[in-house]
Amino acid sequence: MARALIAAWAATYIALVSSFGVGGGSGVGIGVNWGTMMSHPMHPATVAAMLHSNGIAKVKLFDADPWTVAALAGSAVEAMLAIPNDQLARVAASYDHARQWVKHNVSNHDHDGGVRIKYVAVGNEPLLKSYNGSFTTTIFPALKNIQRALDEAGVGRRIKATVPLNADVYNSPADDPVPSSGNFRSDIRPLMVDIVRFLNSSGAPFTVNIYPFLSLYQNPNFPVEFAFFDGGGKPVYDNGVEYTNVFDANFDTLVWSLQKAGVPDLKVIVGEVGWPTDGDKNANVKLAKKFFDGLLKKIARKEGTPLRPGDMEVYIFALIDENQKSVQPGNFERHWGIFTYDGKPKFPMDLTGEGRDKILVGAAGVKYLPSQWCVLNEDASNRYKNVPASVNYACSNADCTPLGYGSSCNGLSKKGNISYAFNMYFQMMDQDVRACDFGGLAKITTENASQGGCLFPIQILSAGERTASGAGSFRILLAVVMVSVVVFV
Ligand SMILES: *[C@@H]1O[C@H](CO)[C@@H](O)[C@H](O)[C@H]1NC(C)=O
Ligand SMILES: *[C@@H]1O[C@H](CO)[C@@H](O)[C@H](O)[C@H]1NC(C)=O
Ligand SMILES: *[C@@H]1O[C@H](CO)[C@@H](O)[C@H](O)[C@H]1NC(C)=O
Ligand SMILES: *[C@@H]1O[C@H](CO)[C@@H](O)[C@H](O)[C@H]1NC(C)=O
Ligand SMILES: *[C@@H]1O[C@H](CO)[C@@H](O)[C@H](O)[C@H]1NC(C)=O
Repeated sequence: MARALIAAWAATYIALVSSFGVGGGSGVGIGVNWGTMMSHPMHPATVAAMLHSNGIAKVKLFDADPWTVAALAGSAVEAMLAIPNDQLARVAASYDHARQWVKHNVSNHDHDGGVRIKYVAVGNEPLLKSYNGSFTTTIFPALKNIQRALDEAGVGRRIKATVPLNADVYNSPADDPVPSSGNFRSDIRPLMVDIVRFLNSSGAPFTVNIYPFLSLYQNPNFPVEFAFFDGGGKPVYDNGVEYTNVFDANFDTLVWSLQKAGVPDLKVIVGEVGWPTDGDKNANVKLAKKFFDGLLKKIARKEGTPLRPGDMEVYIFALIDENQKSVQPGNFERHWGIFTYDGKPKFPMDLTGEGRDKILVGAAGVKYLPSQWCVLNEDASNRYKNVPASVNYACSNADCTPLGYGSSCNGLSKKGNISYAFNMYFQMMDQDVRACDFGGLAKITTENASQGGCLFPIQILSAGERTASGAGSFRILLAVVMVSVVVFV
C-alpha cells in the first residue's frame, strides 16, 4: 500500500519534471529552508517538485536524511545539507566520524545525476544564548573536522562547511545601539574569532539568521516600520550612514564584528529570514506579504546593505509550516511557511523580486484524509466538567496555537475552542475513531467545522512512514507537550 502510494507520487513528480522540461521555473536565485518537524510530511518528491515548478534555485535542509536528500537527485537545485546539533559531539570527538559523515552523506550523493551539494551546515544556531553553552566546546572542532573531510574527499573546493548562527552571537551595547559599535557577544568572542578566521581561510561563508519579526515581537516599543523595507520609519544614523530597516542594521552589525575579528571581507549569506503568518498579533498574511515584497525587491535590486552593497545570498524561512516545532520561542513558531502544511501557497508573491505577484505553484497530488471533523458533542453537556482536562490533553499533543491571542482562531466561542482542540487531535491521530471520544464529549461530523477566518483543517495522508525519523518526531512531540497553549473553559 505505502509502496504503491510512493510509486504514484514518484510518477507525479516525474510527470511534473518532464512537463516543465527545460528549466521549468525562471531560475530564481532565492533559496528556501525545508524543515521536516511535522507530524504529516508530504512526500519529498512532492516537495522537490514544488521547488522545481517555482524555479527555486537553492534549498537548505536541517539534516541529511537520505529520504529527503535523494529527492533532490537529478535536479539543478543547490543544496545545503546539515549536521544537527546532537551529532556535533561525535563529529568533534573523532575525525573518523567526520570522514564517515562526509562519505555517507556527501560523497554518496555527489555524482552526475546526483545532488548539487554546495554547503554542509555544521550544527544549527549552536551558540544560541538559550543553549547555555552546550555546544561551545564541540562546534569549532566539528567544523574543522568536516572541512578537512571534505578536502580529503576531494570536494572541498566546491563544497564548504559553514555554521548557521543566530544574530544573537553579536550585538551592540544598549547605550550605543549602532552597527559600528557591534562586536561578537563577550562570552563567546574568542571562539567566534577562531571560527570566522577558519571560515575565511577555507573560503566558506558566514551564515547568519536574521529575524526582524522577533525584534518586533520581543520589544513592544520597537518602531514597526523599521521591521519592513518600505522606509517610513525614523532612520538611524551611524557615522553618516543611514539605516531605514533593522535587517540592514543587523547585517552591518555583523560586518563590523567581522572587521574587528580581522576578517573584513568574509562572505556573509543569510541562512534564514522570514515572517510567520499566525500565532501572534503581528503574525499574519498581510504583514508577511509586506515583508517578503520588500525583501525580494531589495534582493532583486542587488542593493545589499550600506556596508555590503551588491548581490546577497538568502534562504527564506521557511518553505512549509511545521506543526511539531517547539513553541517555546512563541506560538508563531509553527507558522513560518510560505506554504501551508499541505503545500498550498499562503499569499501571492514574486520570488524574482520584480513585483509581478502571482500565486506560487502548490504541491501536486497531495492526498487528504476523509472530509470529517471531530467536534464537541453538545448533547453531552452533563459531562462538561471534564472539558478542561480533555482540551489540555488534545492541545498538548496537537497544535492549538491558532487559538491564542491575535491568532486566526482567537475569535471562537468557548465551544468553538473545544471543538478546535478536539479536531486538531483527531486529525493528528489520522482520524482514528478512538481519538474522537474524550469520554463521550466529542463526535465526528461530516459538516465542515471551519468558522469565519478560522480553518479547521483536514490532515493529509502522511508520507512519513520512515521508521527511524518517525520515532524521532514522536520524541519531539512528547518533548513539547508541556509548553503548549492552555485553553481555559
Ligand atoms: C548521515 O546523516 C544522517 C541524517 O542526518 C545521520 O543520521 C547519519 O548518522 C549520517 N551518517 C554518518 C555515517 O554519520
Ligand atoms: C539554560 O538555563 C536556563 C536557566 O538556568 C534553563 O531554564 C534552561 O532550561 C537551560 N537550557 C538548556 C538548553 O540547557
Ligand atoms: C581572509 O581571506 C583572504 C582571502 O583569501 C586573505 O587574503 C586574508 O589574509 C584572510 N585573512 C585572515 C585573517 O586569515
Ligand atoms: C472547509 O471550509 C473552509 C472555509 O470555508 C475551506 O477553506 C476548507 O477548504 C473546507 N474544507 C473542506 C475539506 O472542504
Ligand atoms: C479560547 O482559547 C483561547 C486560547 O487559550 C483564549 O485566549 C480564549 O479566551 C478562549 N475563548 C473563550 C471564549 O473562552
